[in-house]
Parts: sequence; C-alpha cells; structure tokens
Amino acid sequence: MLVIRKTKLSKKNISELVSEIKHFKHLTYFGNKTWQSFDTIYGAYVDNELAGVLAVNHCLQWGKIGPLVVLSRFQNQKIASKLVAHVINQEKCKLYLASANPAVWKIVSTHAFRSLSQWFKLPIEIYFIYLKLIVTMILNRELLFLIAELKRKKTVVHNHRHFVLLR
Ligand SMILES: CC(C)(COP(=O)(O)OP(=O)(O)OC[C@H]1O[C@@H](n2cnc3c(N)ncnc32)[C@H](O)[C@@H]1OP(=O)(O)O)[C@@H](O)C(=O)NCCC(=O)NCCS
Repeated sequence: MLVIRKTKLSKKNISELVSEIKHFKHLTYFGNKTWQSFDTIYGAYVDNELAGVLAVNHCLQWGKIGPLVVLSRFQNQKIASKLVAHVINQEKCKLYLASANPAVWKIVSTHAFRSLSQWFKLPIEIYFIYLKLIVTMILNRELLFLIAELKRKKTVVHNHRHFVLLR
C-alpha cells in the first residue's frame, strides 16, 4: 500500500538517495547534509519502505518543489505523479518547479502549471531559495561535490524547463 506523508529521512534513506542519484542523468547532486536541510520532505512509502521523495523549500508566498526522486526499483508505478499531486494539494502557496527530465514535464502537464519561457524572469523569492540552497551547500562543504558531478554528468542548465503554479 502506498502512503504519502511529510517525513524526516533517516541516514539510511539519505545514503540510498545519494547513491542512486549518482546514476541519474537529470538530477545532479545533493549531499547528505543538504538533504537534511530542506524545509519539508514528502515521502512516498510502499508497505512502509521509502520509495520516493519530493522536497519543498519556501520563501514568503512561494514554494520550490524538488528534488523529486523515485528509487529505481519503484519507478514507472506512478509514484512521482502521486507525490506531485499530493504536494500540490497540501501546499497552499504558489509553486515553482524546474526539471530537465521529460518524465517530469509529462507529470507537470497534467496540472495547471504554466511554463516560463524566460528562466531569468523567475520570482525573486525563487532566487532567494536557490541562494539559500547554495549557501547551505557551501556551509556543508558539499558545493565542490556538486561542481564535480555537474562536470561528470555534463549537466546543462539550459535543458531545464521552468514551471509555475499560480493561485
Ligand atoms: C522522474 C521520476 C521522478 C519519475 O518517477 P516515476 O514514479 O517513475 O514517474 P510516474 O510513474 O509517476 O510517471 C512518469 C510519467 O512520465 C512518462 N515518461 C517516462 N519517461 C518519459 C520520457 N522520456 N518522455 C516523456 N514521458 C516520459 C511516463 O510514461 C509516465 O506518464 P504516464 O503516467 O502518462 O504513463 C523518476 O524516474 C526519477 O526519480 N528519476 C531520477 C531522478 C530525476 O530525474 N528526478 C527529476 C529531476 S527534477
């Protein structure tokens, strides 16, 4: 049975997420301490086992959703779709999401998200959330790992599509 709820990740959960993300091409890197720093994490549990997570970070009336991860053995079972729908239902703020993953674009297309053609025209609150994330990574000494992974995975920022859900 699938249950989605706000959660605190255990060290074991975080290790598994970090180790799986190494193999995902659309998600670059989040270190152990950064995972612990997110404002809110929604966990999807299948028979009490963590299957996927969706983090939410807030600034004023905005929330940035992501990273979104479903562990490989649970993928293609609509878990990400249910996580996104659950978070849209629970979080009453305006939402922003960026992704280079076509599967995420597909999920987003089933909701009332609007695509932003000019990514640099993001709401100022979203820039603050990104800034906070970068500062957190610096303080946690995880920024260099992110840069190394950006190079290894050849992640290109302009492949990302940006979406907002206004309300
Ligand atoms: C992306 C990810 C979260 C999707 O999780 P999931 O639980 O397998 O996704 P779902 O089963 O809910 O649905 C995915 C949808 O995308 C579709 N899809 C999958 N690959 C696709 C592709 N390459 N192009 C278009 N659509 C695609 C699926 O068919 C499905 O649509 P459907 O419901 O109409 O059948 C998961 O694959 C993952 O964690 N990937 C690695 C991390 C990552 O890239 N995260 C996103 C970064 S923001």
